[in-house]
Amino acid sequence: MRTLAILSALPDEQSGLLQQLEQPERVQRAGRTFWRGHWHAHAVVLALTKIGKVAAATTTTTLIEAFDVDRVVFTGVAGGMGAGVGVGDVVVAQNFVQHDMDASPLFARYEIPEHGSAILTCDVQLTALLLRAVQAGLAGVGRHFHQGQWLPAATVHTGLVASGDQFVSEAAAARQMLSDLQAAGFSPLAVEMEGAAVAQVCHDYGVPFAAVRTISDRADDSAHADFSAFVTQVAGPYARAVIGQLMTLL
Ligand code: ADE
Repeated sequence: MRTLAILSALPDEQSGLLQQLEQPERVQRAGRTFWRGHWHAHAVVLALTKIGKVAAATTTTTLIEAFDVDRVVFTGVAGGMGAGVGVGDVVVAQNFVQHDMDASPLFARYEIPEHGSAILTCDVQLTALLLRAVQAGLAGVGRHFHQGQWLPAATVHTGLVASGDQFVSEAAAARQMLSDLQAAGFSPLAVEMEGAAVAQVCHDYGVPFAAVRTISDRADDSAHADFSAFVTQVAGPYARAVIGQLMTLL
């Protein structure tokens, strides 16, 4: 039976999903734990990418080689970069760029050598389903209290996400990254550390991929404050609601 893979970066992003898995079976590979089971009659495998592009590529490659995966969905958190992309908002990725890819002068800055482009595109149909699942899922979760205040109702954004091996936690660094990307014609809504790697492996194998990220911070000097609490209290419940909805749409 073809299997839907659901990837997360961190255990707290995954735990709510794991609770929903029927007849979970644990499989160890490449130093990683893969949880195989069923959800709404769909064959599902859950795994953690771990953090960063290499770890995410290893998880994704192992997943595709060892399990009969026909679609990959990523759920996690990201730092908001675009104007108006605030904490508690949700970004559904349409495509990815690697903000730390630079093989210039051999290739244009950000271009992935031998890929012919800087951009990795998500699967259009799976992304449309994920967007519907996000809209339905968020309608069902309550408002969240974070860092001493109620978060406003989440706005859902769709667009470009930047990935790289850096937790961006200085406003000046975030501004520089954004202006460099914009100068090359790229305007990311959010920054994180795995999505482009998963997208690249899925592209190489021809496996449809879609990704959703809840904005945990603004990639500025307070990015690390309450990060773990946000993942547990907000991003985890969002992921569970969204993937629960996705299962009814597939
Ligand atoms: N994931 C969540 N917040 C992030 C940030 N500020 N930088 C990189 N990855 C992130």
